[in-house]
Amino acid sequence: MGYQDIYAAWKNDPEGFWMKAAQDIDWVKPPSRAYFDQGPAGEWFADALVNACWNAVDRHVEAGRGDQLAIIHDSPITHSYRGITYRELRDRVARLAGALRDKGVGKGDRVIIYMPMVPEALEAMLACSRLGAIHSVVFGGFAAHELAVRIDDCTPKAIIAASCGLEPGRVVHYKPLLDRAIEEATHKPEFCVIFQREQEVAELIEGRDYAWHSFQYGVEPADCVPVEGNHPHYILYTSGTTGQPKGVIRHTAGHIVALNWTMKNIYGINAGDVFWAASDVGWVVGHSYICYGPLLAGATTIVFEGKPVGTPDPGIFGRIIQNHKVKVFFTAPTAIRAVKREDPACLYIRDYSLKSLRAVFLAGERADPDTVQWVEQNLNVPVIDHWWQTETGWAIAANPFGIESLLVKYGSPSVPMPGYDVQVLDEAGHPVPPGTLGAVAVKLPLPPGTLPTLWKADERFRKSYLTNFPGYYETGDAGYIDEDGYLYIMARTDDVINVAGHRLSTGAMEEVLSSHPAVAECAVIGVADPLKGQTPLGFLCLKKGVEIGPEQIGREVVQMVRDRIGPVAAFRNTVVVDRLPKTRSGKILRATMAKIADGEEFKMPATIDDPAILDEIREALHKAGHMAATA
Ligand code: COA
Ligand code: AMP
Repeated sequence: MGYQDIYAAWKNDPEGFWMKAAQDIDWVKPPSRAYFDQGPAGEWFADALVNACWNAVDRHVEAGRGDQLAIIHDSPITHSYRGITYRELRDRVARLAGALRDKGVGKGDRVIIYMPMVPEALEAMLACSRLGAIHSVVFGGFAAHELAVRIDDCTPKAIIAASCGLEPGRVVHYKPLLDRAIEEATHKPEFCVIFQREQEVAELIEGRDYAWHSFQYGVEPADCVPVEGNHPHYILYTSGTTGQPKGVIRHTAGHIVALNWTMKNIYGINAGDVFWAASDVGWVVGHSYICYGPLLAGATTIVFEGKPVGTPDPGIFGRIIQNHKVKVFFTAPTAIRAVKREDPACLYIRDYSLKSLRAVFLAGERADPDTVQWVEQNLNVPVIDHWWQTETGWAIAANPFGIESLLVKYGSPSVPMPGYDVQVLDEAGHPVPPGTLGAVAVKLPLPPGTLPTLWKADERFRKSYLTNFPGYYETGDAGYIDEDGYLYIMARTDDVINVAGHRLSTGAMEEVLSSHPAVAECAVIGVADPLKGQTPLGFLCLKKGVEIGPEQIGREVVQMVRDRIGPVAAFRNTVVVDRLPKTRSGKILRATMAKIADGEEFKMPATIDDPAILDEIREALHKAGHMAATA
């Protein structure tokens, strides 16, 4: 069947479609039906009993794939390479789970994982899944404060961390960050497990911290604990409009059914294939396509500790694809732009044999046509932009390579996947004609594997996603659908920006800036950046009478954002202005400021209080050199 038939089959009988997909999963007790009209937005396979770790690991050993590599760790930073078979993975995960169980971790307990790109991060996730414990992975580029916020929100019984992460030319000292976060948080975990890396052995706190190896020494391995289909598998925090991140929940059964379906139908991956998502376990791409998706499919996943460039050169993608015979490669457009900038002719990557490669998938931000075409021309394989979010856990729209390769339209992530009835709405919530820009929304219910709610925040969930357009899930993206049903995602409708494929909240940065004693008012916007897509730019209005120069205050707030949010915010630029442009009701006109900074045409907002301020903004940007940087 082609895409049209499969999409129509889902639309005609969603229940039957997902029950059929569920047949590829090993159930302890199969679901009696797919959809349950319960919870804030519906739930899937709620009455089943299942274990995600069993499906991702053990069942492949039972099926005779025990000697196949499950994980390949390749770190051009440490110059090391390691393979772990499915049998080894099962034994390692069962042992770690046994040790966690012996310390009292069980079904429903939360465990925070704060680790870099090492296989132990996946093992920690899987050990939690094995026990029915709910993991919450925190990205290593966040600072102690962000970790503390997450500790207080999900109140973990334990934290599993590494002694350090490795960025090119810099050791990221995880342990002091962890200690500071625990000190700052009101909630205290009962214990921590620290994976000591050879690059840095961290000091442990007696009675609280255990070293990874001694923690597991001599323990009985744990079996998989069956959990209900709607048992939360994990919590993953993502940026919202405020400094308080949203704890996206993933229910167990829907998650594994949907991911398993995507591996074959979207990515064209079967058992035994090698799949590489060059992301980080701290992001949703890492959860879905470094850890669970490829393992559910019985494929080999690559855990890559490196960067597209500089580790050691822009050929690293080629080396990994060649050496590990990668069939499908998934990265962010920004990573491709980084390679292209250093090696426009793609000589480094093309120096390697890429004959195993069948397709390149891009996501995380809009894939600009130049980037897509550059990859197509140089790697000579289909390049597939696909659109999704932390909230959905898998692609809302894609070109379903595993089903058929549809016509590529540059600038479009193609068509909706089964499960998603995507509509573009006007402000009143009415669908708009093809080609008309509007808010992109998905008709409820969302498919399996998407968020059923936010962790302990049903009301926030309803308000953030279900209220503006009753009957729909609001994606927060703006775009349009063309006459052929292809979707185009153009911008966010909220204060979320996308920096190097990382989703960040300008609201969170504003909270940091406004806590500086000299700052009276501030605004952070995302301005266009040729490499990272967007970078944050902070506008500062200073309190009357304070004596501090623009460079000095700039340096101070940049450091504050780095300390409070983390280096990943990539917050480097500030401008001091006398006042901010606002509507008559006092709303800061961030979108207009962004247009000015990007040198784009804009319509004077009808509700602007004082249009003259826009000229002041333009002048301040010129003076500070920020318009030149983006022109
Ligand atoms: N742990 C600690 N620090 C981290 C980190 C991590 N896991 N990841 C990034 N950082 C730090 C970087 O070291 C950098 O610090 P610096 O200010 O001291 O230099 C800062 O955060 C900003 O990082 P980044 O925005 O990634 O910029 P970069 O210049 O280091 O690299 C790219 C630019 C484009 C090469 C890189 O961002 C990239 O590969 N992006 C792909 C993103 C991706 O895969 N997203 C997932 C969605 S698919
Ligand atoms: P995240 O939750 O970090 O995955 O970020 C999700 C957001 O990134 C989406 O809401 C979009 O704004 C943006 N995004 C991700 N993938 C794409 C894509 N292929 N095209 C356009 N925007 C994208």
